[in-house]
Amino acid sequence: MDTEETGGVVELSSGVYWVGAIDWNGRDFHGFTTPGGTTYNSYLVIGEKTALIDTVKAPFAGEMLRRIGQLIDPSKLDYIIMNHMEPDHSGSLTELKKQTDAKILITRRGIDILNGYFRDSGSENWDVGVVKTGDQLDLGGKTLVFLEATMLHWPDSMETFLKEDRILFSNDGFGQHIASSKRYDFEAGDMLSEAAEYYANILMPFHMPLLRYLKVLAELEIEPLQIAPSHGIIWKQDLPKILEAYISWASGEVKEKVLVIYDTMWGSTEIMANEIAEAVRAAGVEVRLLNLRKNPRSYIMKEMLDAAAFAVGSPTLNNGLFPTVGDFLVYLKGLRPQKKKAMAFGSYGWGGGAVKIIEQELKNAGIEVFEPGLQVRYRPYEKELVRCRKLGEQLAAAAKKQ
Ligand code: FEO
Repeated sequence: MDTEETGGVVELSSGVYWVGAIDWNGRDFHGFTTPGGTTYNSYLVIGEKTALIDTVKAPFAGEMLRRIGQLIDPSKLDYIIMNHMEPDHSGSLTELKKQTDAKILITRRGIDILNGYFRDSGSENWDVGVVKTGDQLDLGGKTLVFLEATMLHWPDSMETFLKEDRILFSNDGFGQHIASSKRYDFEAGDMLSEAAEYYANILMPFHMPLLRYLKVLAELEIEPLQIAPSHGIIWKQDLPKILEAYISWASGEVKEKVLVIYDTMWGSTEIMANEIAEAVRAAGVEVRLLNLRKNPRSYIMKEMLDAAAFAVGSPTLNNGLFPTVGDFLVYLKGLRPQKKKAMAFGSYGWGGGAVKIIEQELKNAGIEVFEPGLQVRYRPYEKELVRCRKLGEQLAAAAKKQ
C-alpha cells in the first residue's frame, strides 16, 4: 500500500490498515491551539472477520468511509471498537451505522457517553458489547486484546492491542496534533516535541492513571512493535523514545528551567518581566520569556512540562487580572502541573490586587507559591528593578534545587 500518500490507505502490517482522516485546517482542540492541524486515525483490521478501531470527527466521515471502501464493503464490517467516545473519535458513528450493523465494543463507562451523544441516532437499539482489561476478540488470525485506560483521556478510554502483529492502538495516548501526509515517525521526522505539547495539554492532569496504565502493560507483558495513536503519526522507529518520554513526563521530571509568563498594559509589567528573566539567565538557568498575547496558552503549557519554576505577571485592571492572565490561570488550574514553584508580579496604579489574585489561583492549582510577590506602582525604576532581579535570582535558585 501507499506510504507516500496524500490521501490513501496505508498498510501497518498484513491485513492492518490506516483508514483515518487528515484535518489540515483544524486550528483549535478544546482550547489547545493546533497551528499544524491534526489527524483522526481509524484502523481497519482484517482477519476472517473485520474490525474498525475508532472512527473520525463527524465532518470527516466520508473520507474515512471512502478509505474503508478501498478495502472492504463497509456494510460487511463485523465490529467497531470504540476506544474512546469523545466526538473526535466517535463523531462518525451516526454515518457509519447507517451503512453497517457491526457490533460496537466499548468499556462499561463508555455506554453512558454513547447514549449521551447518539440517542437521537438510535444508539439504544444498536448492538453494543462491553469489554474490560484482558478480554480478547478472535477475528480469525487476528486477536484483539482490550486494555482499559481510564482517564486517558476520559473515564471510558481504552486501548486495544493486536497480538499477532504487536500493534498497540493507543487512541489519545501517545498522540500528537499534527496533520501530515506521512503516517510513520521514520517518514515524518522527530515528533517528540509535538508529542510533548499534546501530553502537556491533554494528558498532564492524568499522570497517576497513566503510570498505573504503563504498569498494567508491563504486567501483561504487552511489548508493542508499533504504537498507533488516533492522532498524528505512528511510533515505530522512535517507539522506545516515546515510552521513555511518557514515563518522564508522568513522573513530573523537571530541569533547571524557568518561565516568565506575563501580559502588560502600558509596558511596566513587561519591564519587570524582562528584568526577572535577565536575572534568571545571569544565574545560569535556562529561561523563557512568554508574553500571553504572543504565545498560545497550549504552547506555554508545553514549555511548562519540564520547567522547575515560573513567574506570572499581570497589570491590575479594574481591581483584577488582565484578561489574558485570567484565561491562562484557568487553563493552568485544569491541567494541574506537578512539582512546580511559582511567584507573582505586576504593576498597578492605585488599588492593586492582581498579584494577590495570581497567588491565590496558583495555590488553587496545587502549586507551591513564594510570597510575597512583587507589586510595583505605575513604573519600575532602579529600586524596583533591583527587587525584580532578586525575584529572578530566587526563581533560579528554586529551579536549581529541584
Ligand atoms: Fe482525541 Fe479525548 O479525544
